[in-house]
Amino acid sequence: MELSSWKDDLRIGIGKIDSQHQVLIELLDQCIQKSKLSKAEFEPVFNDMKLSTDTHFRAEEQLMQTLNYAEFEEHQKQHRLFEENLGLLETEVNHWEKLTIVTLTSLLRDWFVQHILDFDRQIGAYKRAIG
Ligand SMILES: [Fe+2]
Repeated sequence: MELSSWKDDLRIGIGKIDSQHQVLIELLDQCIQKSKLSKAEFEPVFNDMKLSTDTHFRAEEQLMQTLNYAEFEEHQKQHRLFEENLGLLETEVNHWEKLTIVTLTSLLRDWFVQHILDFDRQIGAYKRAIG
């Protein structure tokens, strides 16, 4: 049985961001499933996930700047860290050691879910506070 890692309690209360988070988590879940199959099955979903990550981080960073969000720089650092790890995974994809890919992809998915809880939720709370 394939369970989605998306849960409604991951919503931060900003529609566009919540939709992007949901899509990205579903893509990360799919990447994990495909990583257990083959490189050929993994790569197209991985590429979609990378594009969605780019689009999402840009949108979220733009929103933080629009809101004059005080924690912007620290938050942006977390995004760059995720991208670095995405780059490491991409290098590993070339060697295709299945267990490594499954493990790294799962770590990225878990990291992303935790990032929503620890960092993104605060943007929603801040936006509500300033009205
Ligand atoms: Fe974020």
